[in-house]
Amino acid sequence: MRLARLLVNLSGVLVAQSTATFNSDAAFFAARSDKPKSACSICAFRGLLPKNASVVSAIQVEAGGSYGEGPANVAYPINATELPELCAVTISVRSSKTTFYRFGMFLPVDWNERFLAVGNGGLAGGINWADMGYGTRYGHAVISTDTGHNSTAWDVTWAFRSEDKRKDWGYRAMEGSVKLGKQLVEAYYQKKIQFSYYSGTSTGGRQGLKEIQLHADSFDGALLGAPAWWVSHLSSSGSYWKSINLPLGAPHSIPVSSLKTIADEVMRQCDEVDGVKDGIISDTNGCKFDVNALACDKSCANTNANASACLVPAQIDTLKTIYSNYSINGSLIYPGMELSSELMWPSSVVSDQPPVNGYINYFLLDDPDWIWEQYNDSLVAMAIERDPGNSTPDDYAAMGEFAKRGGKMIMFHGWADGLIVPKSSLLLREFIANATADESELDNWFRLFMAPGMQHSRGTAVGAPWYIAGAGQTRGRPGPRELDNPKHNGLLALMDWVEKGTSVDQIIATSFKNDSDPAAGFLRQRPWCVYPKKQLFKGGDEKKAENWECT
Ligand SMILES: *[C@@H]1O[C@H](CO)[C@@H](O)[C@H](O)[C@H]1NC(C)=O
Ligand SMILES: *[C@@H]1O[C@H](CO)[C@@H](O)[C@H](O)[C@H]1NC(C)=O
Ligand SMILES: *[C@@H]1O[C@H](CO)[C@@H](O)[C@H](O)[C@H]1NC(C)=O
Ligand SMILES: *[C@@H]1O[C@H](CO)[C@@H](O)[C@H](O)[C@H]1NC(C)=O
Ligand SMILES: *[C@@H]1O[C@H](CO)[C@@H](O)[C@H](O)[C@H]1NC(C)=O
Ligand SMILES: *[C@@H]1O[C@H](CO)[C@@H](O)[C@H](O)[C@H]1NC(C)=O
Ligand SMILES: *[C@@H]1O[C@H](CO)[C@@H](O)[C@H](O)[C@H]1NC(C)=O
Ligand SMILES: *[C@@H]1O[C@H](CO)[C@@H](O)[C@H](O)[C@H]1NC(C)=O
Ligand SMILES: *[C@@H]1O[C@H](CO)[C@@H](O)[C@H](O)[C@H]1NC(C)=O
Repeated sequence: MRLARLLVNLSGVLVAQSTATFNSDAAFFAARSDKPKSACSICAFRGLLPKNASVVSAIQVEAGGSYGEGPANVAYPINATELPELCAVTISVRSSKTTFYRFGMFLPVDWNERFLAVGNGGLAGGINWADMGYGTRYGHAVISTDTGHNSTAWDVTWAFRSEDKRKDWGYRAMEGSVKLGKQLVEAYYQKKIQFSYYSGTSTGGRQGLKEIQLHADSFDGALLGAPAWWVSHLSSSGSYWKSINLPLGAPHSIPVSSLKTIADEVMRQCDEVDGVKDGIISDTNGCKFDVNALACDKSCANTNANASACLVPAQIDTLKTIYSNYSINGSLIYPGMELSSELMWPSSVVSDQPPVNGYINYFLLDDPDWIWEQYNDSLVAMAIERDPGNSTPDDYAAMGEFAKRGGKMIMFHGWADGLIVPKSSLLLREFIANATADESELDNWFRLFMAPGMQHSRGTAVGAPWYIAGAGQTRGRPGPRELDNPKHNGLLALMDWVEKGTSVDQIIATSFKNDSDPAAGFLRQRPWCVYPKKQLFKGGDEKKAENWECT
């Protein structure tokens, strides 16, 4: 059937075929007539590859179908579903004598002449088919790389004694996949790519920044959420942050069971600083939080703290340290945890699980026996000096080139992110501004949107709006159709900015009655504002976007 249709196409007769899996009022979905000019087969791609690459598979997916590797892909076991008709391709590329990476491509039959690369998360090794599905439903040809290893997001052991694998994860797999992926897309459709995009959150945000710093012309636009960009600082100091509260059970250590009480007290003191009592803390900086309200001593101001979860003086000191910046010899290593991020601390500071510690074991020292008690400041200095895998995108000046070419970047970060501290995005913004131009010029191509109450790149514990169709937010399924427009969808907003010059002044984010099931209906909508602007409540129903403005 597929072959028959292609023969018709090659003879010059365009078959008007409606895959009709996606509909939107946005103009760029209207004209899609760029049918592939070659078949979806291993042979079709084999002839297009350099010697160091090979085709693993090329599989035709029918409209409405799904694709992925299922549980065999430990990083991304979720298949992309409800796909348009497309060709799903996997390519393997040798990156050194001992290493290789794979990348996947979704090549939709109805192609809109756009290219999209999506990123990964944490240390995840696997092709991110789920996020590829999100972009290809708009008609984009989409790629994702496994970054050169197979692992879950928290597993670092693969990096042991292999600078080549670290480099593949750090930048090489993305760099090579974007370059070869673009060539294959153009060869497959026999047509030039009109616009190229990137979408990624967390490590995905870092990967996008790194690729743009290496090659200013890789993308015309990038949508980056909560980028885990400052790797050498963030990952090396991960052990510092945990060490504050270790060993668990010690008098100074705060148990996980107290976090809810701490979060509730932060809410009690900070919620209304922004003028609205809605269970969402919008102005974490404006809140002068009194930690002592959590003290067990009832003669203090404390009236609200749960008596069985109150903190003794040593724990109060621990809490203060967690909220404070980590500096060495006067230079900032990493900003302190943000108020309102407490419920995420089991992933970062209040835990004896060693996910991030693995960086010191397997990236820095190649010593599996190293334990957190041996932590000292010089390890951070070593990490900054060596940056194993060259993964840290700190060549801020290089981004001036991206801006000069007309590139646009939308970044977003949740204020309640307890994994990647939101202030690290403010810092990045400042580093970029200082290295490229000044703040006013920054606005022409780089915009940061801070999201009150959102946790790490998606989700919320307080009903705060978080969904803008960012990477990882749809989990392989299409998002709600009524949000597929540039007002509510970060990627579509970015495309309008790049292609039509429509600057993005706000993005309306959404939360759902059941955040795991968008079909359950909306809970809240609110605009995210271009930093440093803030949301201002105008009165009326706080759950409706029109009652807020950016000022
Ligand atoms: C995912 O897709 C692959 C390939 O299409 C298929 O073999 C596998 O059964 C699917 N797995 C799940 C869990 O849907
Ligand atoms: C693979 O070969 C191509 C063409 O020779 C080259 O440009 C590319 O850098 C190579 N890729 C890797 C990962 O070595
Ligand atoms: C990752 O797993 C796939 C099978 O799912 C395998 O083909 C590939 O070789 C593995 N990659 C590495 C780097 O081991
Ligand atoms: C008080 O804290 C304890 C554990 O620290 C918890 O089990 C309990 O549910 C909390 N009570 C309230 C009313 O929050
Ligand atoms: C902590 O670091 C941030 C930068 O992330 C800076 O703005 C702030 O002033 C620092 N706080 C203190 C108390 O030094
Ligand atoms: C810091 O830790 C490293 C690794 O354990 C060790 O080699 C080094 O001697 C330590 N430095 C100091 C100043 O203690
Ligand atoms: C901090 O400064 C002291 C004194 O100059 C120096 O010995 C030490 O190595 C510095 N620490 C780091 C981590 O750079
Ligand atoms: C940016 O430059 C200003 C002015 O030189 C300086 O005060 C500020 O510390 C710099 N910010 C960062 C993050 O380096
Ligand atoms: C929310 O949706 C998920 C996924 O459909 C479902 O498993 C869960 O039961 C729902 N929760 C509630 C409270 O309805």
